[in-house]
Amino acid sequence: MSVMTVDTREPMPSPAQSTPPPEGSRGITEILPPEIFKELERGVLGQRRALSFVSVAVYKHVTGRVSGNILLIGNSGTGKTTIMNNIQRLYDSVPEYRWYRVQTILNANLLVDPERTEFRPERIMTAVEQRARLLLGDRPSPDDLKNSIERATVCIDEIDKMSTVVAGKPNPIGVVLQQGLLTLMEGEKVAYRTRAWVEGEERTVTLNIDTQHMMFVCGGAFEGLYDMVYDRVTKRGSGQRLRADTIRTADGAVRIEERFSLADYMKMTDLFKYGMVPQFMARFDKQIMLNDLSMDTLKEILLHSWDSPFQRSKRYFETMNIELAIDALAAALIAEAAAKENRTGARALRDVFSEVINPFEYDPFGSGQLTAREDGGHRLEVDSQTVRRALR
Ligand SMILES: Nc1ncnc2c1ncn2[C@@H]1O[C@H](COP(=O)(O)OP(=O)(O)OP(=O)(O)O)[C@@H](O)[C@H]1O
Ligand SMILES: [Mg+2]
Repeated sequence: MSVMTVDTREPMPSPAQSTPPPEGSRGITEILPPEIFKELERGVLGQRRALSFVSVAVYKHVTGRVSGNILLIGNSGTGKTTIMNNIQRLYDSVPEYRWYRVQTILNANLLVDPERTEFRPERIMTAVEQRARLLLGDRPSPDDLKNSIERATVCIDEIDKMSTVVAGKPNPIGVVLQQGLLTLMEGEKVAYRTRAWVEGEERTVTLNIDTQHMMFVCGGAFEGLYDMVYDRVTKRGSGQRLRADTIRTADGAVRIEERFSLADYMKMTDLFKYGMVPQFMARFDKQIMLNDLSMDTLKEILLHSWDSPFQRSKRYFETMNIELAIDALAAALIAEAAAKENRTGARALRDVFSEVINPFEYDPFGSGQLTAREDGGHRLEVDSQTVRRALR
């Protein structure tokens, strides 16, 4: 599945000499991939394989090597955008990564001008520049701007919408986008005009941005792809069979379900047929297929992902000195209800959980379900009965 590209590019010089690393910080090379993984896993669960590739790519990127670009493929709500957001969170929360905080997440369709069928790389540059300015303060020199922009992590979301065929018809802007991006990802010099400070005054300057050290992370659901591969596999005479999994329901019963997972069956040619340009696909070191999220993973996400609806609600109640808790069966029931919405992935957790929690968020003190704590605060426990009542 992976395409090897020979790397002839030079390591990047270390971050701007004018900007020493923060006090007491470790060398960036000492933060190894497992530590990066652990940090990412606080916000992304059930995608260990994907995160191990992302961690290595990030490590290479921040240590000045060419990171290799990554393509994330996965059904809606499995965590593609969440991975991108968590890379940003990682850069923001680890002091040593300060000079790598220049990151942007853009939707692919913003990178083409549909009327003129033109690729617009400056839209990436502009977004990246904004982040760089936040980092550099209000009087950046042209060199500092150039260095920061060249170190950016560029995430392009919804890349699948820019396929070369849409609904059976050629899609010229898809071709233009993929061609444009592939050149950029290969390492291109882009002349970018902006304003920067030279000898005490702000001037218009042209920065020659070399994109070879940027890291690109693209993602898409490739929805039609799923059906396409499914049809190919389940067609009579395909010689292939779907995998059967044993599913355990929240209250302990067991049943057998046939499960189709794209990762098990997809081939590179399926992506070409879908409308991805082969040369563009070759620019990715790795095409990573995200897992569909099982009920158990959904439960883990609900309980432990730092930005899950439960964790958010917990923070909400903390402002009222109420400790929110949920018991294991209640969490499993919510995960089970969310898993039934199998088209929206973990997004469904939000809908289901809000049904359960809304009455309490609305009027916690009138809910009759608070217990007093010794320290004067309260505790609110969501149990299975509460969940069943809410979801009935
Ligand atoms: N693997 C995961 N771990 C933790 N949370 C997740 C995961 N996947 C999805 N979520 C949660 O579900 C919601 C939707 O996820 P996300 O936006 O990442 O989906 P996506 O894969 O980008 O889907 P789409 O193709 O529809 O854009 C987010 O709020 C996120 O918190
Ligand atoms: Mg998304």
